Amino acid sequence: MESKKAARFSVLVINGSPKGSNSSTMQYVRYISKQLPKHHFETVHVAKNIELLKKDRNEFNSLMQKFQNADAVLFGFGVWVIGVSSQLMSFIETVTHGPYAACLKNKPVAVISTSIHYYDHLAHQYMRAVCEDLHMRFIDGLSLDIADLHNSDIRKIMRQFAQNFADSINNGYESPKQFAELPRSTFTYQSGHITRSIKIGQSNRVLILTDADSHCQNETAMVLRLRSVFKGGTISVYHLSDIPMTQGCRGCMRCGYDYSCVYQDGFTEFYNGTAMEADILIFCGTVRGRYLSPRWKMFFDRAFFWNHTPSLAGKQIGYLISGPLRQNPHLVETLEVTVTARQNANFVGIVTDEDHDSAHLDKLIDDFAHKAATLSSMHFVAPQNFLAVGGQKIFRDEIWGRLRAIWQADYRFYKRHGMFDFPHRKRLFRFAGFLAMLFSHLPFFRKRFYNLLAKSPPMLVRIVDRHP
Ligand SMILES: Cc1cc2nc3c(=O)[nH]c(=O)nc-3n(C[C@H](O)[C@H](O)[C@H](O)COP(=O)(O)O)c2cc1C
Repeated sequence: MESKKAARFSVLVINGSPKGSNSSTMQYVRYISKQLPKHHFETVHVAKNIELLKKDRNEFNSLMQKFQNADAVLFGFGVWVIGVSSQLMSFIETVTHGPYAACLKNKPVAVISTSIHYYDHLAHQYMRAVCEDLHMRFIDGLSLDIADLHNSDIRKIMRQFAQNFADSINNGYESPKQFAELPRSTFTYQSGHITRSIKIGQSNRVLILTDADSHCQNETAMVLRLRSVFKGGTISVYHLSDIPMTQGCRGCMRCGYDYSCVYQDGFTEFYNGTAMEADILIFCGTVRGRYLSPRWKMFFDRAFFWNHTPSLAGKQIGYLISGPLRQNPHLVETLEVTVTARQNANFVGIVTDEDHDSAHLDKLIDDFAHKAATLSSMHFVAPQNFLAVGGQKIFRDEIWGRLRAIWQADYRFYKRHGMFDFPHRKRLFRFAGFLAMLFSHLPFFRKRFYNLLAKSPPMLVRIVDRHP
């Protein structure tokens, strides 16, 4: 409990929702601030105002003064396409690389989000890693469901969170570090001679997307190598800055009705044409702190106009990444699920330059191209693992249930494709289960039943025996 003599403190709430004051998360933050009436809370809408903050130095500096002067910071945001919004990420990048980063050292910080719990943990890991890089004093994170304010048990948890937040600020409590520091690398990749070429079918398309700028020498060299090993088909390389995206996704959700985006900047045409027509997509980026560039995040966010419908299903998708991925386990997972859980596509893998060995990297890129081409020719898509199966069950339940009216286009797609595959539909299994449960009351049956379960199921044995 907070001590009675606790000092009055000021908390700066960093609102990471592009919806600004219309953010749902901010209502949760308001509830938390109500629990601490003698303390001062001020909210700044950084995601909504990101363009202004990037353009206007005075605005940014005055915001950073507030950041610096606050006794504590509370980040609040809605989870946005398996992470935080590109707008919040852009703000974080500006802070991390700017002169104010050092002033945030030891400042107490907590994180609160709302979502449907679809990869919310990755957004929280990203935020925690960012706070640790800034040497802030991380207190805790709270990940709430969009409807949790209705729930009195959760409101109680929020009150406890508020108390713990205040108590930790006053007493200097902190949580241990969870993320390894990011190493600095001076390795320069130099691609060697190309000794083999990877053939692509004449009608096949490879799309390579990169965001490499003049600071990303390795990414540029990796892209060039990959481009050069592919032969045949249609191979296109696009720079993200040439793909029309005037702004990040603002979360209006109008696309929920029929997949049409309110922005008319040409992004949907690019995506529905060039991206969706490709058979193999390779995304190339450089690790910037704890994610790729905010431009990459903007690309993923803007592709959300396809809602929860897999728009790149069945394709081969992989990554060429320069920089410290191995210190960023949440990013590795994000890259994988962006392919599998989000898209039902085949995850070709990730090649990085982390081994600091040009000859080996040449081989890795060539093998990667070979793998993508071979798997594409087979139309191979690996069965999904926990990350995709679990994620899709969340989408299935939400789109069938409480979010149906918002995501109507998804609902129609899921229905047409038999994706509402709830267990209750499997009547034979339910009936067999009912009988097994009933007869299990008999010790004789129970013993035989569990003995049988310990052996390979006879049905599986028969399938393997029968099929070539
Ligand atoms: C563009 C967009 C992307 C979203 N992505 C996710 C997601 O990846 N995972 C999730 O659990 N919820 C996701 N949601 C749901 C939001 O996290 C949820 O609506 C949240 O309450 C929004 O908070 P805000 O109003 O503060 O922005 C998404 C919503 C939108 C509009």
